[in-house]
Amino acid sequence: MALLIFDSGFGGLSIQQAMKQRYPELLIHQFADHAHLPYGTKSPSFISHRLTTVVPQLIQKLEIDTVVVACNTASTHALSELRQRVRQPVIGVVPAIKPAAQLTHCNHIVVLATTATVNSTYTQQLIDDHASSIKVTLVAADGLVSFAEEKIVLGHIDTTQLSKYVAELIAGISEFDTMVLACTHFPLLKEELSAFLPNHIRLIDSGDAVARRLSDVAPSQSSRVAPATFISSAPLSLTTHDAIKRFGFDQVELL
Ligand code: DGL
Repeated sequence: MALLIFDSGFGGLSIQQAMKQRYPELLIHQFADHAHLPYGTKSPSFISHRLTTVVPQLIQKLEIDTVVVACNTASTHALSELRQRVRQPVIGVVPAIKPAAQLTHCNHIVVLATTATVNSTYTQQLIDDHASSIKVTLVAADGLVSFAEEKIVLGHIDTTQLSKYVAELIAGISEFDTMVLACTHFPLLKEELSAFLPNHIRLIDSGDAVARRLSDVAPSQSSRVAPATFISSAPLSLTTHDAIKRFGFDQVELL
């Protein structure tokens, strides 16, 4: 079977890594909508239009059996539209508010996400359904998307700048012990964030839960012989091609 991971950029790589860890033989193709990155500051109708236009094209081109919308922003805005459009199973990636609410000891969680995810009614519904008895602070952290993109392209980031940005974001927020990385780009910065944040703050993302979900939705994960392809909607430099191949992709293409 062939899996398609969809994101606005390199964020999908955090989900690809979680999938590879659980299903090392699975054929995974990935799409990054770099021509339209970031999604986090776009309108819901734009995001929905991109998702429902591009995914069906990729399903046909790559003979996809299952789709993972590895983007909290796209999932919280357009999952149901996409499910109506394609016959393949579609797995969404949404903010891990439920597990975070179960883990917090001080009953206060911070959710870092894009502006669009912070403002979505889907996110509010997750809070109402799973975290109504605790305090949830939503923080728009769109700047982290650029740090994560930079890390993939250059192999490193300016950690002083990153910690300054995050310190400003969380300044003045009362005591919390759990932080939800509610954008697939953010787990790519987990190492740097953990080094900077106080030790007692637990970072939660959706990667492993999404990987586990695949076995419910598509029980057979046997591999198929075809090159694992990474497709971007914008041209990428040759150094970036090399960086992507180190994640296990055989080829990089332009859509
Ligand atoms: N990776 C995407 C997410 O999970 C968003 C990044 C962007 O703003 O495009 O929300």
